Amino acid sequence: MSRKKTVVVGVCGGIAAYKACDVVSSLKKLGYDVHVIMTKAATEFIKPLTLQTLSQNFVITDMFAEPKTWEVEHISLAKKADLFLIVPGTANFVGKIASGIADDMLTTTVMATRAKVVIALAMNTNMLTNPVVERNIEDLKKLGYGFIEADEGLLACGDVGKGKLATPEKIVEATVFEMEEKDLNGKNILVTAGPTVEPIDPVRYMSNRSSGKMGYSIAERAAKRGAKVTLVSGRTSLKVPYGVFKVVDVLSADDMYNAVMENLESNDIIIQSAAVADYKPKTYSDKKIKKKDEDLSIELGRNKDIAFEVGKKKGDRVLIGFAAESNDLIENAKKKIDKKNLDFIIANDITAKGAGFANDTNIVKIIDKDANITEYPILSKKDVADIILDRALSVKQPNKK
Ligand code: PMT
Repeated sequence: MSRKKTVVVGVCGGIAAYKACDVVSSLKKLGYDVHVIMTKAATEFIKPLTLQTLSQNFVITDMFAEPKTWEVEHISLAKKADLFLIVPGTANFVGKIASGIADDMLTTTVMATRAKVVIALAMNTNMLTNPVVERNIEDLKKLGYGFIEADEGLLACGDVGKGKLATPEKIVEATVFEMEEKDLNGKNILVTAGPTVEPIDPVRYMSNRSSGKMGYSIAERAAKRGAKVTLVSGRTSLKVPYGVFKVVDVLSADDMYNAVMENLESNDIIIQSAAVADYKPKTYSDKKIKKKDEDLSIELGRNKDIAFEVGKKKGDRVLIGFAAESNDLIENAKKKIDKKNLDFIIANDITAKGAGFANDTNIVKIIDKDANITEYPILSKKDVADIILDRALSVKQPNKK
């Protein structure tokens, strides 16, 4: 982080106010400059001292208190904020902002800021579904206010339903997402990730060691940087990254082929990191294959080469492939660029320590159409993802300005 970014956390009066402590603490640990403004009602639930200690900044509660500096406080924080986060966002707060009311320090500062305002909603279910509150939320959404939806569950009032504040983890994740520079705004990126699974019978299948980490890292970083991401995912145990627009879960290479083709038209950058099986059993047995004394052979047939088929429909798209190799890395990767009509390929030697399958790191070489090779040291898969996305942005398409 070059400049320490500032998050102003507005705490409103609701029982979920205590969860703002976890949010403030986590944001501070992530390196943000965190300032807190509490409404008077919020101070009935938690003490400013708690948030002051966690944020290591004075907590503002009163419009008319002696100023700590000669700057006008609500204007100074309004200008300083890179993001305004309201935790919990009550019906009262939403109503005031939607109606342009600024009658305390929090609403006055929010009214004076140019920063994005994100409201983590928390209130009783009936309040949340009250048409007036629903209308206010819709109005604010149209004006560009962000919302972190409330979760469902047992509410403090004893009711069960939607209205519980999202978990602090989710709120922090959404905040970090918002703080990222959106240099991929307007880009539509399709990412394939994970392994394919080729069924043999109702019990058995063929697959490979891909965990999906490489592809999910690309999807995560692309979404954080503002792209509209479609993730075509083989079977993984990973959580879909925050902000991904669409996920299509697939099993076999045929499923992946169909999903990629169905979504090709709407995407301009295609990043194919999935480990797609080249072969599948020629026949699927719908009954469990019984054990016999003699050996068993399973005849394999070719799967479609998805990247090759995508390459035929390249148009103005940027096409990026991976090459998972255990030998002759560069030579094999170069052949794949031409065959699959790629703009560049990311070659990884899957036998190298810290590279390839299932690790959180990778060691890659990027090879372009003109055979220029850029080598990288061992990096986290998220850093590799950023490098790939930067490279994708720099590809010049002959027919595009
Ligand atoms: O998922 P992880 O555990 O994080 O591991 C990451 C990874 C090792 C899977 C990843 O870094 C990687 O190398 N992915 C590509 C794996 C692969 O199938 O490589 P390949 O050299 O066999 O294929 C070349 C390219 O063609 C790839 O872009 C692949 O997606 C594509 N392909 C391959 C076969 C096929 N039938 N259709 C395809 O589209």
